[in-house]
Amino acid sequence: MVAFSLPQNSKVDAGKIWPAPHKGELREFRIYRWSPDDHHNPRLDTYYVDLRSCGPMVLDALIKIKNEQDATLTFRRSCREGICGSCAMNIDGTNTLACVKAIEDVKGPVKIYPLPHMPVVKDLVPDMTNFYAQHRSIEPWLKTTTPTPEAEWKQSRPDRAKLDGLYECILCACCSTSCPSYWWNGERYLGPAVLLQAYRWLIDSRDEATGERLDNLEDPFRLYRCHTIMNCAKACPKHLNPAKAIAELKKMMIERRL
Ligand code: SF4
Ligand code: SF4
Ligand code: FES
Repeated sequence: MVAFSLPQNSKVDAGKIWPAPHKGELREFRIYRWSPDDHHNPRLDTYYVDLRSCGPMVLDALIKIKNEQDATLTFRRSCREGICGSCAMNIDGTNTLACVKAIEDVKGPVKIYPLPHMPVVKDLVPDMTNFYAQHRSIEPWLKTTTPTPEAEWKQSRPDRAKLDGLYECILCACCSTSCPSYWWNGERYLGPAVLLQAYRWLIDSRDEATGERLDNLEDPFRLYRCHTIMNCAKACPKHLNPAKAIAELKKMMIERRL
């Protein structure tokens, strides 16, 4: 009989409880902490934040904790406006952007983990290397064979409208890291974010590499591991629908065989 055991560092230990401010409207935050340098298991640290002197979003609380209590807490952020995608993390059991997730929308202690099923660099920072390499592999730029026009590549209004619901993607990876197929086959399945991008370039009326792009997806894993579970569309903080884009890709694959 085979005995299965989890790697030793897969267990999350109880962490430190940081001293609460003496007064105020206190809110509890439990935050995943792990550093490759201290050779310990991950742990869940508890912090208390006075909401009267904190902005309304989870990212505001993280920044306040880092500034006032624990400078070693590590996370990514840049725009604070839901545009850069860098503050994606798992909050209250859902992948989302910390800068657009309101603290008041979470009931009970605010539990914060890094995006699931990604290697962790430190604390809330996932290693996006594979995700970006997959994005690069679909060649996310305009590919043309006709000579470049003197001015811009023109596009009709209806053709431009076909990019709505796609161009808004900020590559935060909330969808891909919500997708069970991507959890199990992340090295080979491109995942919803990258496939949405693949479709965005395929339906761009100015692009002239349709055949080559579809050839690139013709593989049992890269596209066809999507089983329409729809977690991706539920998770997207920009309200996009990667599952629909994937269905359109599969349709394009069938149509070109007819
Ligand atoms: S619909 Fe496809 S891409 Fe989206 S979560 Fe399900 S399997 Fe993943
Ligand atoms: S589709 Fe949505 S969840 Fe996925 S990477 Fe783009 S913005 Fe993020
Ligand atoms: S900080 Fe840019 S999306 Fe949150």
